[in-house]
Amino acid sequence: MSNREEQASIVLENLLSSRHSCRAFLPEEVPQDVVERIVSLAQRTASWCNAQPWQVVITRGAATERFREAMLAPSEQDDKRPDFEWPREYQGVYQERRRECGLALYDAVGVVRGDRAASAKQARENLRLFGAPHVAIVTSDEALSTYGAVDCGGYVANFMLAATSLGVATIAQAALASRPERVRDCLNLPQDRRIVCGISFGFPDTGHPANSFRTSRADLSSTVKWLDA
Ligand SMILES: Cc1cc2nc3c(=O)[nH]c(=O)nc-3n(C[C@H](O)[C@H](O)[C@H](O)COP(=O)(O)O)c2cc1C
Repeated sequence: MSNREEQASIVLENLLSSRHSCRAFLPEEVPQDVVERIVSLAQRTASWCNAQPWQVVITRGAATERFREAMLAPSEQDDKRPDFEWPREYQGVYQERRRECGLALYDAVGVVRGDRAASAKQARENLRLFGAPHVAIVTSDEALSTYGAVDCGGYVANFMLAATSLGVATIAQAALASRPERVRDCLNLPQDRRIVCGISFGFPDTGHPANSFRTSRADLSSTVKWLDA
């Protein structure tokens, strides 16, 4: 490995290991030129046929408040109908990993197991955008189907890494895609823009307990199979 490659690899490793989901933000806005730098870096994302299906609505100021209010508005009935099918169930290791990160959050913020009111309040933080001054709503084109969403997933990952490199904290939120009609209404998006997820972002409240834990990753042996013959 050349010196240059080694440096690049170290920079990437630092970014990948320092990025984490932020669940409490300070109210200060991110300067517009920094947000523009994030989206221009994320725009380099690879996509099938280079279709670049992602489009993103980014809010600040009154637009963020309007979006937050729309998300928090009470529902008359359970009207969750996401554009992309949600996981049917989490079984085995998926269930264990899901439980581990859920419990780490609850422990951090002091939600006691079985306290439904407290866990509902914490879940509601999603709709409050965890206090973030900005949200980026990532949409895909209806006709590009699942692979459009795959391309958007790459975009989301690169957006979050680019933000990390500029000192901006993020969290991807499928929770914001659970009522897509509300999102389209609030942001004036046409019906064929499918809501993939939101990314709330801003500067982190580093002293907040919700930001005090880090998630683990499975050992490579459980995810990679080497074939050489
Ligand atoms: C597509 C996607 C959707 C997510 N949706 C939510 C969400 O709705 N609410 C939430 O609190 N975290 C959400 N997360 C954050 C994950 O819980 C988090 O990435 C995972 O636990 C790993 O932790 P880390 O991001 O700190 O490394 C989402 C992450 C991704 C990639």
